[in-house]
Amino acid sequence: MLSKISHRLFSQKVPCKSGLNSRFCVILGSQWGDEGKGKLVDILAKDYDVCARFNGGANAGHTVVADGHKYAFHLLPCGILYQKCVNVLGNGVVVHIPTMFEELEQLDKNGIDYKGRLLISDRAHLVSDILIQADGMLEQQKGKAAIGTTKRGIGPTYASKALRIGLRVGDLADWTRFREKYDTFVKEVSYLYRIDNFDSRKELDQLRTLSERMSKDRMIIDSIEYMSKALTGGKRIIAEGANATMLDMDFGTYPYITSSSTTVGGVCTGLGVPPQVVETNIGIMKAYTTRVGGGPFPTELLDETGVRLQKVGFEFGATTGRPRRCGWLDLNVVKFSNKINGLTSINMTKLDVLSGIPKIQVAVNYELDGKILNG
Ligand code: IMP
Repeated sequence: MLSKISHRLFSQKVPCKSGLNSRFCVILGSQWGDEGKGKLVDILAKDYDVCARFNGGANAGHTVVADGHKYAFHLLPCGILYQKCVNVLGNGVVVHIPTMFEELEQLDKNGIDYKGRLLISDRAHLVSDILIQADGMLEQQKGKAAIGTTKRGIGPTYASKALRIGLRVGDLADWTRFREKYDTFVKEVSYLYRIDNFDSRKELDQLRTLSERMSKDRMIIDSIEYMSKALTGGKRIIAEGANATMLDMDFGTYPYITSSSTTVGGVCTGLGVPPQVVETNIGIMKAYTTRVGGGPFPTELLDETGVRLQKVGFEFGATTGRPRRCGWLDLNVVKFSNKINGLTSINMTKLDVLSGIPKIQVAVNYELDGKILNG
């Protein structure tokens, strides 16, 4: 059964290039995240000119070991470790500036030069501390129905973007205007979430110092122009997805989702590039399934096999340290992901974690009240 399904998954007649010779390669999570996207991006990015993130914020997470040093990245694209690679945080990303500088400190410590190699879209929205506070409050208020967010302010930041009250990275370019916008923003957010104890002066002071560093290093750019020139100039681009298909705001297991477009459409809206530029679209699929936070998980294992997968696969959140829920591979999920993303290939990870398990199971259909549901 597995081979039949796999055959159908892989048998699309789409001419595609592998990640090794593509001019525009997209890496997406095909399950609920933590499939190992960072590892493949890390392997490929050293031969790409541009590594761009198009969605999410510091809710993503991966650890990279390079030259004996361990780096924990949540916001920075994986290509930051490669001197030839320019790294872009696209307009679809939400940026908490202090977190970004904390991550950059790891590079400073090990003498990795990133000047001119980290570019942030002027249209990307800023994650303010007040939105992080709101994220925590909303979760607390939900009690047992909590989403289990990473509490990085992701939902409230995308919500304020949609509400047209958000702050953008480009606003930092004119400090006097920024202060005015910031005060209005804090007033509006405080009103929405009934927050009356937010220390805006502290955040403003911090942002002022950090934005001076950003303008000195010319980090803030018109990313639409940059990407367009990179494309016409024949640069090779790798787009690094954060989170995964089943956490997509439109296609995921709503409301247990993140708040960005994690699927292939997000590449276009989050980077400002036309769809036909995508040459390669690789879906990362873990050989089993994991999920962090609340929400449905049909193949979840609540027994000792689940615990074994967690231990052997070291399934603990890179951002929050939370243990990940574990279960069998669910091909319904991967097929669904393929429908939306039109994957040109699938990269299976962590197969070795299943070693020694006497009988491995894979879900190929869902059944409800004795009826097989068509996938
Ligand atoms: P948020 O993105 O922090 O708002 O969290 C919303 C949901 O997405 C929660 O269930 C998180 O556990 C989940 N989530 C967000 N980012 C990741 C990730 O990188 N891996 C796995 N789950 C994630």
